[in-house]
Amino acid sequence: MPLVSLTPMLREACHGGYAVGAFNPVDCASMKAIVEAAEELDASVIAQLSAKTVVYYGHETLAGWMRELAENSPVPVALHLDHGKDLEMIKKCIETGWTSVMIDASDLPFEENLDRSRQVVEWATAAGVGVEAELGEIVGVEEDIVVAEEDAHLADPDKAERFCRELDLGVFAPAIGTAHGYYKGEPNVRFDLIEEIFRRTQTPLALHGGTGLPDETIQRCIKLGCAKVNISTNLKHAFIDGFCDYHRDNPNDYEPLRVLKGQYDAMKELLKAKIEQFGGAGKAADVKTSTP
Ligand code: 13P
Repeated sequence: MPLVSLTPMLREACHGGYAVGAFNPVDCASMKAIVEAAEELDASVIAQLSAKTVVYYGHETLAGWMRELAENSPVPVALHLDHGKDLEMIKKCIETGWTSVMIDASDLPFEENLDRSRQVVEWATAAGVGVEAELGEIVGVEEDIVVAEEDAHLADPDKAERFCRELDLGVFAPAIGTAHGYYKGEPNVRFDLIEEIFRRTQTPLALHGGTGLPDETIQRCIKLGCAKVNISTNLKHAFIDGFCDYHRDNPNDYEPLRVLKGQYDAMKELLKAKIEQFGGAGKAADVKTSTP
């Protein structure tokens, strides 16, 4: 089926009490692994590209690969820009067939964040593209930008309510204590904040920093309104380790396609485990039968 926006996916996930996995591919094979993992589990899925991946390959190339994979698949697939900071890049994604975009202006003062996010919602809505926006700053490294613990701040519920009232978002990403990359200590997820923000915004929430969160934490976040769970670091590790492990176990095999298959299988196994963990297996029909 054609690429779909993440808006109907996450609306259905919210109603159904599960989350859609949002994974960061880095090449055509990791995109294929994402779509095939979803297909084997009959799940909806989000392939989200970091801005640096967009710079590396170009908007059109990535959109072309994903369009082809999605159109040959029976499950709903969204092509999403992760942590878009550059308005020109976001605009180009919207123009070249991406089905959702994230505007991350969370490092700016509240009113500026709101204004920039509003601009993106305007462009996106006109093109039928879904929008994610962030409030508060999530700790860790994303897009090679380091947000140190002392600089990170959690989303304020009053501001979150106003943000979501003024913007028509497909998904809202408040900083609630998770971090990008592997956790150094115990993650301090503020469940009370997730609960209050969801109650006051009634907008599906994105759980950033999914790598390394304990299963019970993820399940609790999903119950409280997180309908999109982001996994990037885990997939990067499967990408590199899958390749290296195959070569370590088969040091004389220099047939690239077999090495790539080892890497591909490692990624797909991880992706399927995550989709199952988030409760998305068997839920593809929710989107196919829902109205846009
Ligand atoms: P991880 O790298 O911790 O999985 O976080 C991914 C993420 O939130 C991307 O936006």
